[in-house]
Amino acid sequence: MAETRRREGVVNRRLAGGVTAFTVAALLAACAPQTLAPQTSATPTTSGPTTGFAPQATSSAEPLLAAGKVPTQLDASLLNGRLVRVDSRTDYARHLFASWPQFGLEPVDQQIATSYQEQIRDFDATYPAPTIDTAIPELNLGWGLIGSAPTMVGVVSDGLLFSGASDHQTWRSIWFDPTSGVVLTNSELVRAEPAAAAIEAAARRAGVADADLADLGPAPLAAAPLLGFSPQGELIVGFDECQIAACANGRVSFEIPAEQTETLLTEAGRRARAATVTPSAPSAPTTPTPSPEPPASQATEEPPEQPAVDCDQERCIALTFDDGPGPSTRRLLGHLAKAGVPATFFMLGQQVETYPKVAKQAAAAGHEIGVHTWDHRSLPQLSPARIDDELGSTAAVIQKVTGTKATLMRPPYGAHDAKTLAAAKRAGEAVVLWNVDTLDWKTRSTKKTIAAALAATRRGSIILLHDIHPTSVAAVPGIITGLQAKGYTFVTVSQLIGKARPGKIYHAAKR
Ligand code: NI
Repeated sequence: MAETRRREGVVNRRLAGGVTAFTVAALLAACAPQTLAPQTSATPTTSGPTTGFAPQATSSAEPLLAAGKVPTQLDASLLNGRLVRVDSRTDYARHLFASWPQFGLEPVDQQIATSYQEQIRDFDATYPAPTIDTAIPELNLGWGLIGSAPTMVGVVSDGLLFSGASDHQTWRSIWFDPTSGVVLTNSELVRAEPAAAAIEAAARRAGVADADLADLGPAPLAAAPLLGFSPQGELIVGFDECQIAACANGRVSFEIPAEQTETLLTEAGRRARAATVTPSAPSAPTTPTPSPEPPASQATEEPPEQPAVDCDQERCIALTFDDGPGPSTRRLLGHLAKAGVPATFFMLGQQVETYPKVAKQAAAAGHEIGVHTWDHRSLPQLSPARIDDELGSTAAVIQKVTGTKATLMRPPYGAHDAKTLAAAKRAGEAVVLWNVDTLDWKTRSTKKTIAAALAATRRGSIILLHDIHPTSVAAVPGIITGLQAKGYTFVTVSQLIGKARPGKIYHAAKR
């Protein structure tokens, strides 16, 4: 089951053609709390794409996975300049976390952005204000790269709406030609629609016992919100919850056997498959696009000389950056290198998987790397086993990519309960919160972010920033010079708090 772990946090993208998208309200209506059921009944027994980072078997009876096969995830740095930016919307008061790629191509960008923004609008309308309920609703929308080649790029969204009682998950793939900006529909990727019976058989083999595609018409694959490929080139098909099987199954996916895949794909479909199996960088579009984010000044590969700092003598503080690494992180590393200042990054496992070179560069430059969960789920909503998985899979990918073992974690939204602390203790990680909230995620203002950091920082402070926001990254030089002028010395969180105890909460140093 480990191979599908990374797609647990879902997205509710509405990119694929032919599918009636769920709205938040529809999801809630369709899936009353009493329908809450194991989400992983579609988990196939065959081997599949793997990230290899999830912990192995768990003794918990609760499944850790949301669905079966997931397409192979690729290193997003393959996109290089083709990825113009990653837009995001976060609301840490209401547990909303969304990010989506933009390529400088219409209608690709519009289709992607509209999909995410519709879901966010639904969430805003349904949950306009923070709730004091113990079960806080949560919307979690992420994305991943599933194909990259000169004339074919595939991205997938992964969405989760936690309604307060149960999870509702969706996924969408979008395949497009980066040279022309033309989006390919499922019908353009798949040559001949196999009989529904053949797809049902594949679904049953994967464990979706009650798969029924009769309602999808003569071309059932056209209605599949997710089309992707395994490392071996098998076609992976995904459907939304309630679409082809009992709603209690959640979203389901399975693979079409290789021999069937071979006859199924169009020429474009074969290019999509090759873009997954043997990925390469996409070509430049034939029309000029906005220039991508300029390359950041490269941080030195040599760890900076970290002078021994005595925080009993110095006025030590720590900068912390959450939710990355992302497209702006290299620029941030440049700012930090230029200033000779160390920082602490609380990284998402899925972002480390998406930007491994950046994560490695951050660690190599001497910055501290902590765990911020795999996909930014609010941990108190989860069972102990799933919290263990969130922390363990993230620590594993950090260790694999950077070679260092994380000893710090920060729960998304700062949300924690006794289960969370116990899991952190089991993981050997101290729980690091903050006492300076710049509200950078809310203001998206470089000026206000600098002002907030300068106004609130005291000796021993832990300052919260997010390197997914370019406005926050742009604030860093001003924050550094401003606080250095006040006599503060920047250190990592571990330097700041000294010997940290796993499972214990730190808001600041007690000096
Ligand atoms: Ni966060």
